[in-house]
Amino acid sequence: MDKRPSISNMLKEERRFAPPADLAAHANVTAAAYEEAAADRPGFWAAQAKRLTWATEPTETLDWSNPPFAKWFADGKLNVAYNCVDRHVENGLGDRVAIHFEGEPGDTRTITYAELQSEVCKAANALTALGVRSGDRVAIYLPMIPEAVIAMLACARLGAPHSVVFGGFSADALATRIHDADARVVITADGGYRRGKPSALKPAVDEALTRPGTEDVRSVLVVRRTGQQDIGWTDGRDVWWHEFVDRQSDRHTPEAFDAEHPLFILYTSGTTGKPKGILHTTGGYLTQVSYTHHAVFDLKPETDVYWCTADVGWVTGHSYITYGPLSNGATEVLYEGTPDSPHQGRWWEIVQKYGVTILYTAPTAIRACMKWGDDIPAKFDLSSLRVLGSVGEPINPEAWMWYRKHIGADAAPIVDTWWQTETGAMMLSPLPGVTDTKPGSAQLPLPGIAATVVDDDANEVPDGSGGYLVLTEPWPAMLRTIWGDDQRYLDTYWSRFAGKYFAGDGAKKDEDGDIWLLGRVDDVMLVSGHNISTTEVESALVAHPKVAEAAVVGATDPQTTQAICAFVILRGGAAEDEGLVDELRTHVGRQLGPIAKPKRILPVAELPKTRSGKIMRRLLRDVAENRDLGDVTTLTDSSVMDLIQAKLPSAA
Ligand code: WT7
Repeated sequence: MDKRPSISNMLKEERRFAPPADLAAHANVTAAAYEEAAADRPGFWAAQAKRLTWATEPTETLDWSNPPFAKWFADGKLNVAYNCVDRHVENGLGDRVAIHFEGEPGDTRTITYAELQSEVCKAANALTALGVRSGDRVAIYLPMIPEAVIAMLACARLGAPHSVVFGGFSADALATRIHDADARVVITADGGYRRGKPSALKPAVDEALTRPGTEDVRSVLVVRRTGQQDIGWTDGRDVWWHEFVDRQSDRHTPEAFDAEHPLFILYTSGTTGKPKGILHTTGGYLTQVSYTHHAVFDLKPETDVYWCTADVGWVTGHSYITYGPLSNGATEVLYEGTPDSPHQGRWWEIVQKYGVTILYTAPTAIRACMKWGDDIPAKFDLSSLRVLGSVGEPINPEAWMWYRKHIGADAAPIVDTWWQTETGAMMLSPLPGVTDTKPGSAQLPLPGIAATVVDDDANEVPDGSGGYLVLTEPWPAMLRTIWGDDQRYLDTYWSRFAGKYFAGDGAKKDEDGDIWLLGRVDDVMLVSGHNISTTEVESALVAHPKVAEAAVVGATDPQTTQAICAFVILRGGAAEDEGLVDELRTHVGRQLGPIAKPKRILPVAELPKTRSGKIMRRLLRDVAENRDLGDVTTLTDSSVMDLIQAKLPSAA
C-alpha cells in the first residue's frame, strides 16, 4: 500500500471553558471515574451493570476469548422493558412524567411511567396475539410519536429484536431491510406530520410488501396518527393499533432474557454496498447507554427535563430517546416535527414551554439556527438549559461558540459526543462537571473506554499529530456482528489495524493529547503531498462572520493531485460579491496556512445532506469534477443538487 502522509493538524484552538462551579460540585461523575476505570476496566463496567435490575445477576463480565466477537455479562439475565419502565413504577415513580409529547400540529400528550407501563404491556400482548415470539424480528416504520417508543419497548419486552426503519425512507429501503432481517410483523402509521402537512407512511409499507423477500410478513399493525389519509387495507393482514392494542390487557409479565439476547438490528446506510444490519444485544448495551446518559448529561431524574431532537430511526434515538433516558427514569420531550415548522423558533418555544434542562442535538441543526439568525432564540426564555449536547458530525468551533452563547447563555457546558451506530453508545466526550471544554473537540474517551489515534502502521501518533481513530479495547455496547454476515463484520471494522476497531474517522491529538475528529477518512483531501481534513477547512470557513455553513471536497487537479473546492452557505444578509471569494480564501490561509486555501469557493443556498443531516461530500465531488451524480437516493432533497450544478458555469 502507498504510504500516505498522516493527516495534517492545522487548526489551533486556544479557547477553554471550565465547568460551572455548581455543576461540578454536584456532578454525577467526577474525575475519580477515570482512575477507577483505568485501574480495572471490566470491574468498572461490572459496577456500572449494577445500575440495572437483573433477574439473574451476572458473575462474568467480559468474554473476549473469540475476538472480535464479544460477550458481556453472558450469564446474567434481564428484561430491558422492565428496566426502562416497570421498575420505576415499582419504586413509587409511577406518576413521574416519562414523555412530554409535542406533535407538529401542536397536539400534546403527557405519559407517566405508570401509563407507559400499561401501554407497553398492551402492545406486548398485542404482538403476542399476532404470533410474535422471542427471537422473531419486527420492523418499525413510524413517525416520531409515542407509539414508536412503546413499540420498541414492547418488542424488547418479548425478546423480539426490532428493526426501526426511519420514516423518511422509501418503500425500497424498507423492503430491503424487511427482507434482510426477515421481519414477521411491521408496525407503522397512516402517516405523520411534516412541515404542517400530513405525510403518508402506510402506502410505502403496502408497496414494500409487494417486493420479493417480504412474504414472511404476516401482520401490519397501523397507528392512526393523522386520520386524514385514505389508506389501502389488506384484510387479514392489517390491524389498527387503536382497535387491537387498546383492547388487550394492560398486565404482562416480563420474561428475563440472556444478556447476549439480540435487542435490535439497525441498518446503517453507509456510502457503498448494501446496508449493514448492525446487531446490538441486551445487557452490555443497556449498561453503557444508561451509564453514559447519566454521566455525560449529568442527569438528575427528579428535576431534569431532557430532550434529544434525533429521530428514533437513528441510533441516537434508540440509545438516547428510548433506552438510555428511560432506563434512568428520566422525564423527556418527544417532538414529532422539524425545527422550522411552523416558525424558526419552534425548538426554543418547546424548550421554554417544558423547561428543558438538557438538550441533545446535531451540528447540522445548530448551523441551520445560526443561519436563521441570533434574534430567533433570543425571543425565548432558555434559562432552564444547563447541559448541551452535540452528535453526528464534527462540530465546527464557531458553531460550538454560537451554541454556547445563544442557546447556553454562555454558561451551559457543551458535550460533544463521538460515537456511531456500531458503538451503540457514546465513546468520546467531555464530562460536564469535570472537563475544561474546547470548542470543536470530543476530547477524550469516557471512563471505561479505550481509544487512540494511530498512523498507517498502527502506531499511536504523538500529541500534535493526525491519523486514524481506533478503539483498542472491547466495550459493553459494541455491535456484536453484522446481521447474517460475520465476515463483513471482520472485514469492515477489524481488518485495517490488527486487533483494533477502526471507526473510519480521521482524528488528531492536540498538544494536550485531546482528540479532535477530522471527518471520514474517505473525505480527506490530498493536496500537494499534504493530507488535509475537510473538517478543518470547513471550520475555518465557518469561523468567518459571513459564513454559516461550509462543505469542502478535494477535486482532481493536474498540478496538486487534488484541489480544495468549497461550497458555502452565507449567513442571513451577507452579500455574494466579487470580493467575497478572495476574502474567504485569505481568511482560510490565515487560519490554517496557505496550503489550505480553497482553489474555488462557491456560495450556494443549500448543501446536500443525508436524511440524518450529514453533508454528502461525495456528490459535491461529482459536481466539482463535472461528473454525473452518483446515487442520490439518500438525499433529503435532490433538487438541491440541481441548484448547485446550475451555479457552476464552467469546468474546473
Ligand atoms: C459517524 C457515525 C452517533 C450517532 C449519530 C451518528 C460521525 C458522530 C460525531 C462527533 C465528529 C461524529 C463520525 C462517525 N460523528 N458523532 N461528535 N464528532 N464526528 O451515527 O450515523 O452511525 O455515524 O458520525 O464520522 O463515524 P452514525
